[in-house]
Amino acid sequence: MNYRHAFHAGNFADVFKHTILIGLLDALKQKPAPFCYFDTHAGAGSYDLRGAQAEKTAEAAEGVLRLLDVKSSPHFLRDYLDLLRSLNPAAIGNELAHYPGSPLIATSLLRETDRAVLCELQPDEAAQLKTLFAHDARVGVHQRDGYAALGALVPPKERRGLVLIDPPFEAQDDEFRAIEAALATAYSRWPTGIYAIWYPIKLREQTRPFHRWFASRKISKTLVVELLRQPDDSALRLNGCGVVIVNPPWQFDQQLRRLMPVLQDRLKVSGPGQIRLDWLTRE
Ligand SMILES: C[S@@+](CC[C@H](N)C(=O)[O-])C[C@H]1O[C@@H](n2cnc3c(N)ncnc32)[C@H](O)[C@@H]1O
Repeated sequence: MNYRHAFHAGNFADVFKHTILIGLLDALKQKPAPFCYFDTHAGAGSYDLRGAQAEKTAEAAEGVLRLLDVKSSPHFLRDYLDLLRSLNPAAIGNELAHYPGSPLIATSLLRETDRAVLCELQPDEAAQLKTLFAHDARVGVHQRDGYAALGALVPPKERRGLVLIDPPFEAQDDEFRAIEAALATAYSRWPTGIYAIWYPIKLREQTRPFHRWFASRKISKTLVVELLRQPDDSALRLNGCGVVIVNPPWQFDQQLRRLMPVLQDRLKVSGPGQIRLDWLTRE
């Protein structure tokens, strides 16, 4: 386990994943009943963009810092930018000191009656999470394998909620197989939960078996959204990334259709890149 998210905080993949996360949480909040947010690979929860790790890669410059001056934007993006501003009250122009990870983004949006379960295996990151949420009674931090925890802890008592699966993919193709195994168990126990699974795109042939898996397991409502910045033909680069959403909220595809062109334009590298928005399975 060498992966440290601090090197990548606020990069284009975070912008993509976190704006979608905000949209999913917002949809859950449309109903008054409480829900549970489950983060299987939570990370440290908050990152210092002026710290040595973030400065070494400068990935935020190619990611979140390109979005800060977006004026008229779909509401997911507006909410995302508002949250960044509230966490960086002293920010001036194109600068940010703090970047929130998925746990801090989610808990910033939860209501008093909602709950978060955060899993993180790496001891230092888990310790940071525990400190960050020490005074938040809605949040449970577990230093344990997120895949095993997911199978053990769903369905939540609220019976409504969202699972974010955001692994480091150090295991390359085997990570897809680990996700499939964990999802098979979780979905069989909680078929009405919303599941959002982030994955990297390097070579296209690596993602195809994963996409086919959902139909093979008869998981009946699955949307895929991808942002490709470079051709998907090199195993050496992060060419893009995607999120598969099981049981997306009503009309979520239409909301993504408004969000994605803005991200594509702001996060592009040499060429225009590509967006994909498709149903992998649909009842
Ligand atoms: C991509 S980062 C998570 C980023 C976070 N979800 C966010 O959006 O801010 C992946 C995290 O998973 C942790 N990790 C790796 N294997 C794990 C496992 N089996 N269970 C739980 N956490 C794990 C890593 O230590 C790392 O912090």
